[in-house]
Amino acid sequence: MADKTPAPRTTTDAGIPAQSDEHSLTLGRDGPIVLNDHYLIEQMANFNRERIPERQPHAKGSGAFGHFEVTKDVSKFTKAKFLQPGAKVETAVRFSTVAGERGSPDTWRDPRGFSVKFYTEDGNFDMVGNNTPIFFIRDPMKFQHFIRSQKRRADNGLRDHDMQWDFWTLSPESAHQVTYLMGDRGVPKNWREMNGYGSHTYMLVSATGEKFWVKWHFHTDLGDGNAHLTQDEADKMAGQDGDYHRRDLFDHIARGEFPSWTLKFQVMPFEDAKTYRINPFDLTKTWPHADYPLMEVGKLALDTNPVDWDTQIEQLAFEPNNMVPGIGLSPDKMLLARGFSYADAHRARLGVNYKQIPVNQAKAAEVHSYSRAGRGRTVNAVDPVYAPNSYGGPGAQPETGGEATWMADGDMVRAAYTLRAGDDDWSQPGALVREVMDDPQRERFVKNVSGHLADGVSEPILERAFAYWRNVDRDIGDRIEKATRDVLGGKSQSPGMASAASISGYHGVPATSS
Ligand code: HEM
Repeated sequence: MADKTPAPRTTTDAGIPAQSDEHSLTLGRDGPIVLNDHYLIEQMANFNRERIPERQPHAKGSGAFGHFEVTKDVSKFTKAKFLQPGAKVETAVRFSTVAGERGSPDTWRDPRGFSVKFYTEDGNFDMVGNNTPIFFIRDPMKFQHFIRSQKRRADNGLRDHDMQWDFWTLSPESAHQVTYLMGDRGVPKNWREMNGYGSHTYMLVSATGEKFWVKWHFHTDLGDGNAHLTQDEADKMAGQDGDYHRRDLFDHIARGEFPSWTLKFQVMPFEDAKTYRINPFDLTKTWPHADYPLMEVGKLALDTNPVDWDTQIEQLAFEPNNMVPGIGLSPDKMLLARGFSYADAHRARLGVNYKQIPVNQAKAAEVHSYSRAGRGRTVNAVDPVYAPNSYGGPGAQPETGGEATWMADGDMVRAAYTLRAGDDDWSQPGALVREVMDDPQRERFVKNVSGHLADGVSEPILERAFAYWRNVDRDIGDRIEKATRDVLGGKSQSPGMASAASISGYHGVPATSS
């Protein structure tokens, strides 16, 4: 902050020298303020409009800027220019929690968002993922309900474990993600030591038009991706420093300790998807690495902090529909819905011209779209304003080698995915508990789940939760029931939705084990 150059003179937003930073214009020293103190009015008016609406989910977060560089040749799978050998592009990255509001503590138990914007020469490509490779649900019809169940009740405005477990136990497909959430990944130690996952299956298209399915994994270069805080540490930190993760990222980058991640792909040949034993487009499932091994692609590094957090991070807009040639969506219904939802959210939150906010502008590509005018527009439109035209205006061209499309045919129905032999809701979370977690991890997992359940979950939801965990793993379900009953001990049972707020000791903060 200390700078020897003389400070500039204050001006109004129109650049006119301001007369005072301290005194408003009055009639006499002790008289009333006059309406023609337009500088005072400008300051008040600007202040009153400083806050834009927060993101609906993922409101609390922060981010930084850096680069992505290709380190291995994956050109046989994709023609995307920024994934060709030697390519290096600028990136913007934002990390977030899901359910908390803009000022909520960073250490509440929640999945963490992991969004990356790649400023490529074919336009901006966004990979909007989480720190877990799967999700709670597989149909977008349930997304809004799911998020509401994690946010706040209508009556008292409190968060409520009862409604969280009500939704989860009525949605068995959530078991895999809830297992991750209640394990160490539910409260990462910081963002730098956390993995990121595209989670969905995406398409890759090669220069010759060959198509593949792919899952994206960003592995932190700092450890195994499981660095975490225990529930007790997280609870204490929520009181001490609600911005702990935001501060950690900013301070490390400011000190020159730049975090980085290795991007890896799991690639599935296009035809395999038709017969693979698990539906490869089901977002609640991972692809076993034994079937589709990880292959290195490149390095993502963050080395630059924002200088204006509001314009560069709060107004940063990611959208899964920002796909560039060589990469596409897939038949995953969740992903297809996300392709609509985010741009709609940005239009509501930031205005129709949100792509002209500097952080959202294409940096390495020229924009020649026919969008024009509208609130907040800053870039001049040029004639001709229509296509086709005879005056040299932009003309669209089909993509060389074809777009990222696939064949679909059938009657319009409202139905779940067709089940395959390996499609069940319990096997993968069961394997996660039995084969991936070690004893201390399982111990913490049981403590986290039972602490959560004992904090405001009512019957019959509680009983349903024990059955849910027994479906995941018999032994873990028994342990969870015993630990929960022990915590509840002498405590009177919470009545849940009807009158939770009236119970003494009830608090609606998620995942706070007492
Ligand atoms: C944010 C919708 C599933 C990751 C958002 C936002 C919306 C949304 C409306 C707020 C956007 C904004 O205002 O900037 C949906 C819908 C989903 C879905 C409709 C499913 C049908 C997912 C999944 C993931 C995910 C499966 C991860 C794999 C994120 C992240 C953000 C976000 C990381 C924050 C982006 C940022 O940092 O600005 N989502 N979402 N969402 N979502 Fe989703």
